[in-house]
Amino acid sequence: MNKQVEILQNRGQLIERAREICLPKIDEAIQQRGQCTIALAGGSTPKPFYESMAAENLAWDKIHIFWGDERYVSPDHSDSNQRMARQAWLDKVPIPATNIHAMPTGSADPEADAATHDAHLREFFQVSPGKFPDFDLILLGMGDDGHTASLFPHTDALQVRDRLITVGNKDGQPRLTFTVPLINQARCVIFVVSGPDKQAALDQVFAEKGDDMNYPSRLIEPQGELRWLLTGVDL
Ligand code: 6PG
Repeated sequence: MNKQVEILQNRGQLIERAREICLPKIDEAIQQRGQCTIALAGGSTPKPFYESMAAENLAWDKIHIFWGDERYVSPDHSDSNQRMARQAWLDKVPIPATNIHAMPTGSADPEADAATHDAHLREFFQVSPGKFPDFDLILLGMGDDGHTASLFPHTDALQVRDRLITVGNKDGQPRLTFTVPLINQARCVIFVVSGPDKQAALDQVFAEKGDDMNYPSRLIEPQGELRWLLTGVDL
């Protein structure tokens, strides 16, 4: 794992740095593999980055968009990560609808929807049971409790190692989430973290020794690159 940590002056610079890293990687993936697979983070920090991507002139037909996690709500719900990314970015660019791989949340059975999406990813990437696909880019945020995606402290989702997608749990509310092994199979994982309220968790995540179950972002150690883009915190 190649880990690089950068502290940026402000959110604007963080977004610009995310673009500087992502845009060449998108081109490289398309050049080398004919497509680029990107998993988006939810929450608020990445929204300006998504808005900036809407202004780019990219080979949209070769870019496939996924989500690293999703609240278990309808796609038009104000909490939906899919809704946020569509409004900020995807509805503004000519990306084929079939290139947008939203997490299903409509069956009223989160486990069933997780299994459906797991099967969809296996089909898309042509990976067999026990194997994990390598996303070109996975964007992640981090909560002030050290969670990432919907991998929350002391939840069962942290232990799942035999699936791509599982059901996360935030205060009793179900969410769909990439599993730790799926995230760690990525070619490049980029955390975008902003705000002094993340400082305490960040100190724990970056500590040499710590409690992975209490600070799940510690579990993210991708086989490729790990990039942390931070602002409003110190290290
Ligand atoms: C979600 C996210 C979650 C988010 C963090 C940070 O569905 O909410 O995937 O993991 O990235 O909670 O959120 P902020 O960027 O809003 O601080």
